[in-house]
Amino acid sequence: MSKAELKINDQTIELPVVVGSENEHALDISKLRGQTGYVTLDYGLKNTAVTRSSITYLEGENGILQYRGYPIEQLAEKASFLEVAYLIIYGELPDKNKLDEFTTGVTNHTLIHENMKKFYEGFPQHAHPMGVLASMVCALSAFYPDILETDGEDESLNLHVQRLIAKSATIAAWAYKNSVGHPAMYPQNRLDYSANFLYMMFAKPTEEYEISDTMVDALNKLLILHADHEQNCSTSTVRVVGSSRASLYTSVSAGIMALWGPLHGGANQAVLEMLQRIYDDGGASKQNIDKWIGRFKDKNSGQRLMGFGHRVYRNYDPRATILKKSADAVFDELKVNDPLLDIARELEHHALNDSYFVDRKLYPNVDYYSGLLYRAMEIPTDMFTVMFALGRMPGWIANWIEMTREGQPITRPRQIYTGETRRDYIPLEKR
Ligand code: CMC
Repeated sequence: MSKAELKINDQTIELPVVVGSENEHALDISKLRGQTGYVTLDYGLKNTAVTRSSITYLEGENGILQYRGYPIEQLAEKASFLEVAYLIIYGELPDKNKLDEFTTGVTNHTLIHENMKKFYEGFPQHAHPMGVLASMVCALSAFYPDILETDGEDESLNLHVQRLIAKSATIAAWAYKNSVGHPAMYPQNRLDYSANFLYMMFAKPTEEYEISDTMVDALNKLLILHADHEQNCSTSTVRVVGSSRASLYTSVSAGIMALWGPLHGGANQAVLEMLQRIYDDGGASKQNIDKWIGRFKDKNSGQRLMGFGHRVYRNYDPRATILKKSADAVFDELKVNDPLLDIARELEHHALNDSYFVDRKLYPNVDYYSGLLYRAMEIPTDMFTVMFALGRMPGWIANWIEMTREGQPITRPRQIYTGETRRDYIPLEKR
């Protein structure tokens, strides 16, 4: 079937059916208003495809996530973050030369302008690192103003892509250093992306810092798992802002702001806070876990089992499966003895065997274990969303480029007006 029919009052119109490469079907309503005067209403765009895209495929019923056709499981197991970034941004896995070239390009741009370093002095010491990251990514457009003339086809775009990936890691790590009053650690270009980030976060000029391969591997996986997730809130934001032809840096900065919200990037922090409350309330005892599971099932309690359930996945979030395996390895190797971990395992076990969660298809999502993993790596809680942002960078960039290349028109939704109808102005003295 390539067309659907829509009957409105006495009028019947044909709507073209668009079919994606994984057999997803959509009704093209772009001519609906012109033909009938009607628009569609879809709060939260829950049922609206806002674009065609060839970057990421996500299928919630069966828990499938693929970047450019490659299953997330294979990429997380075998690839490096920069290799995945290249794949997402340029569409194909790089050969060795291309990967070397891209890695060298990113590595050469890890330094930030010394004047930007002074910005940190202006932020309050306890500034949230997401605010710092978004402002400084936006400020990159002032340091590299040719970005304003760069469109999706421009050769110089690659340079900006490399700058953005490299400098955002330095900006993020230095935001943390600033918050604890420690000197910034300059990037080490002998290290790969993940090792370098850990170095900038945790090394001090006063002592040797030994980088753990286990931590590097875990971080690499975390970044890959977050690298793209199709048209989520922050990615849609990047596209909306970019559709006005705003620059790559500006659009990505807006995406970082959208990610900051607790309904989007902030859920892993909420999981840890929930586990801490359960710990303070009596820990992993059977009695306490039963009590809390009961609360999560009770609509009147206003509490949900954070890290469970997903708008799109009605099955195990594939990212959660990978992360749980990786987290178990890290916890074992680092000999993590975290009471919150015991609580998380008990809760998960109970929920997966409870008909409330099973019937509603509520399974652990990516955030259930990522916070615990970051905690084991000693990454502070307010940096969790920053870590998400660093991982999501390739997805935002790829979506900005795809949208710009396709010449997407400026995003300008319609509304259904529900306010007062026309009325005359009343002079002030008569009101
Ligand atoms: N704990 C207890 N009950 C739940 C939960 C939960 N975590 N999630 C959903 N439900 C229940 C909900 O009460 C409803 O029950 P009923 O049908 O009896 O009214 C049913 O399951 C369906 O819930 P919903 O809110 O309609 O489902 P949704 O698809 O709109 O919400 C969600 C998805 C992720 C917002 C929700 O599952 C939730 O709040 N989870 C906890 C927060 C969380 O972990 N968020 C991170 C999501 S993953 C991040 C990412 O991919 O970016």
